[in-house]
Amino acid sequence: MRDAALRYMTGFGGHFETEAVEGALPKGRNSPQRPALGLYAEQLSGTSFTAPRHDNRRSWLYRMRPTADHRPFERYDGAPLFGAAAGEEPLAPNRLRWDPPTDLPANADFIDGMATMLHARVPEDLEGVAVHVYAAERGMDRRVFVDVDGELLILPQQGAIELHTELGRLEVAPGSVGLVPRGLKFRVQLLDGQARGYVAENYGPPLRLPELGPIGANGLAAARDFEAPVAWFEDLDEEVEVIQKFLGHLWVTSLDHSPLDVVAWHGNYAPFRYDLARFNALGTVSFDHPDPSIFTVLTSPSNVPGRANADFVIFPPRWMVAEDTFRPPWFHRNVMSEAMGLIHGEYDAKAEGFAPGGLSLHNLMSGHGPDLDSWGKASESELKPVKVEGTLAFMVETCWPYRPTRFALERAQPDYDLAWAGFPKARLP
Ligand code: FE2
Repeated sequence: MRDAALRYMTGFGGHFETEAVEGALPKGRNSPQRPALGLYAEQLSGTSFTAPRHDNRRSWLYRMRPTADHRPFERYDGAPLFGAAAGEEPLAPNRLRWDPPTDLPANADFIDGMATMLHARVPEDLEGVAVHVYAAERGMDRRVFVDVDGELLILPQQGAIELHTELGRLEVAPGSVGLVPRGLKFRVQLLDGQARGYVAENYGPPLRLPELGPIGANGLAAARDFEAPVAWFEDLDEEVEVIQKFLGHLWVTSLDHSPLDVVAWHGNYAPFRYDLARFNALGTVSFDHPDPSIFTVLTSPSNVPGRANADFVIFPPRWMVAEDTFRPPWFHRNVMSEAMGLIHGEYDAKAEGFAPGGLSLHNLMSGHGPDLDSWGKASESELKPVKVEGTLAFMVETCWPYRPTRFALERAQPDYDLAWAGFPKARLP
């Protein structure tokens, strides 16, 4: 039977408002602490947060249950001819997470103790990003590494390291990041006996500071807080092994001297270190919280304006003051793919199941959000000003879907709430 009462809203690309039950739509805000009728606020992001306004597409949904609350997807065999493409192994659209790696090679250095977890695109595309984890117990004596596939953003999680690069030396401790440009030779020495952390490998355009738009001339990461090394060289006429990453594979050769022999240099292509505590975190002083793009430290653009090949985003200590607002990261489906790591502390959307050194993946449009416990607490808590302290999480967000490596898939766990988490159903009149 056709429903003669069907009604429509006109205007392609318009900003619509509609509610099927009176009072379901929040007035004047997106994400109240307790949406009316026990509904869940969920953002559906059809473009990156930072897409220009005229291209930006997103809707806020007020729903009876969050999309995040579902059982894992399994392979569907009912339409045998549909969508069958040759190529890589099918990847289930499930949220995944990893505990800190415990089975990386023992007594390894930074290179031998590294495992690739996620990759998006391939190096020859000159676009995409990979996420690796490392655990090292010895330095790279008589060895250097050079990655021609991408620049490396190194995030120590345990143990300070010293980068010996062609352009100088940098000490990088947990809470700071080191950035090594594509094609620059370097080694990693350990300052605390052992080291563990993450590496984001950017195949695309070099990371840069994001545009600030209406924020103005100041805020987020400041150029003056990035530190490049002064010239330094080693005069070593002994055999040195050179490991080179090229098109996804490692190659080795040896020299009869150290290639870290640059006595002077000038230019603007250089390694940096950056103390994440210098990041000037901005947030709301009224209601709702901005999209997490407000925490972007560095960004690698794609060919689409405002859409990042890779955004490096942090969730640092900060004051939360929003009134009548659901303060943790909201329920979300995102056209961008989100890989998250934790340097220390607790992440405010995941009370459990996300340990420092661990990793999580929320791929293209997968429903995600706070776990049941975090949602319950944030829905009930008194909204006084609160300082989130003692935590540092980060995200490497990319416009390209991530594929876990075989190593990663073998160790993956379903994300904390892939079983029915039991979010209570909204109470409609
Ligand atoms: Fe998200």
